[in-house]
Amino acid sequence: MVQVKDQLNRPLRDIRISLTDQCNFRCSYCMPAEIFGVDYPFLPKEEYLSFSEIIKVVQAAEELGVEKIRLTGGEPLLRKDLPKLISELYRRTGIKDIALTTNGIFLPKYAKELKEAGLQRVNISMDALDDDVFKQMNGRSVSIKAVLKGIDAALSAGLGVKINMVVKKGANEDQILPMARYFKERGIVLRFIEFMDVGSTNGWQLSSVVSKKEIFDRINHVFPAEPVNEAYYGEVASRFRYKDGSGEFGVISSVTESFCSTCTRARLSADGRLYTCLFAAKGHDLKTILRSDASADEIKEYIISVWEHRADRYSDERTEETAKNRPKIEMSYIGG
Ligand code: GTP
Ligand code: 5AD
Ligand code: SF4
Ligand code: SF4
Repeated sequence: MVQVKDQLNRPLRDIRISLTDQCNFRCSYCMPAEIFGVDYPFLPKEEYLSFSEIIKVVQAAEELGVEKIRLTGGEPLLRKDLPKLISELYRRTGIKDIALTTNGIFLPKYAKELKEAGLQRVNISMDALDDDVFKQMNGRSVSIKAVLKGIDAALSAGLGVKINMVVKKGANEDQILPMARYFKERGIVLRFIEFMDVGSTNGWQLSSVVSKKEIFDRINHVFPAEPVNEAYYGEVASRFRYKDGSGEFGVISSVTESFCSTCTRARLSADGRLYTCLFAAKGHDLKTILRSDASADEIKEYIISVWEHRADRYSDERTEETAKNRPKIEMSYIGG
């Protein structure tokens, strides 16, 4: 039998679901404090998709070939009853790769419960080891100790853990080596992310990007490393293995080496809009369909029609001009 997923022009493997656009951090590259102040128009909570609506989307996505669900935000652990959503996803869909991207500071409270609910792994954002640099980056003076406790809690709960570090020139590039050393010693995978021009508020300039090549060279100079083949089609990070056998690190190079041709990710905002690119200007109103009396097949057909018409390749086309002038949604709204 020909399955629907085999009929898609381009595979849809990964659905990233934002659960809230709010966050308790104000990272300069994502939600600069000057803009995301008390009067910022965050989504009213009534606009959020309910858990049962999210499950309907995931069930349809599963039939289209989706194998991985990533829950994001803003900060997803600010969403009430998150473990409940995870256990429903685990029980009511066949997708077992359920992951969370988080700033980590609520993990001491929730890691065990999340693991028991069916969460497999967490990607924790951590941009510096030095407390002063970290406080600057997160914009809320949160101490690095809070994140380190979160990492410990995730490991103790038995969750898979990877660390994401956004590298911004002039802000935290001096942390590349200390971070590499720290996580290498602990056998935890650290991924460096090139600073991206998501949204229109983070003041991105090409000159603030530290390239994949530069990041690799700095590490390789001290800890010799070599490339590793990708683990799965469309993997976002380029991976490298330390030659001394002490594990690996990754670099996500959306600016200097884009990977749009193998993009398999769709994104769902907290208010139920479906996006086919992180840099899109407009989403597709899936919520209205979910709140009509549409059948499971109609929801699936809608997702197919959106996915089949996509022509996104923003990172392939990026210039200083597009970065400045093209309308784009904010990262905190759409999730990493
Ligand atoms: P795993 O490999 O399954 O652990 O997940 P991941 O790397 O896709 O997830 P994560 O949320 O940790 O993503 C890390 C970062 O990669 C994101 O925060 C983005 O900065 C970047 N990223 C992920 N997907 C895309 C994408 O489709 N396009 C671009 N340009 N960047 C992406
Ligand atoms: N450039 C690159 N990565 C970003 N993230 C947020 N904003 C940006 C940006 N402008 C990353 C965070 C986190 C994930 C959710 O997205 O560091 O790891
Ligand atoms: Fe919050 Fe993550 Fe954005 Fe930082 S990167 S402000 S932790 S959503
Ligand atoms: Fe996919 Fe858009 Fe990222 Fe390119 S820029 S990899 S199309 S999400």
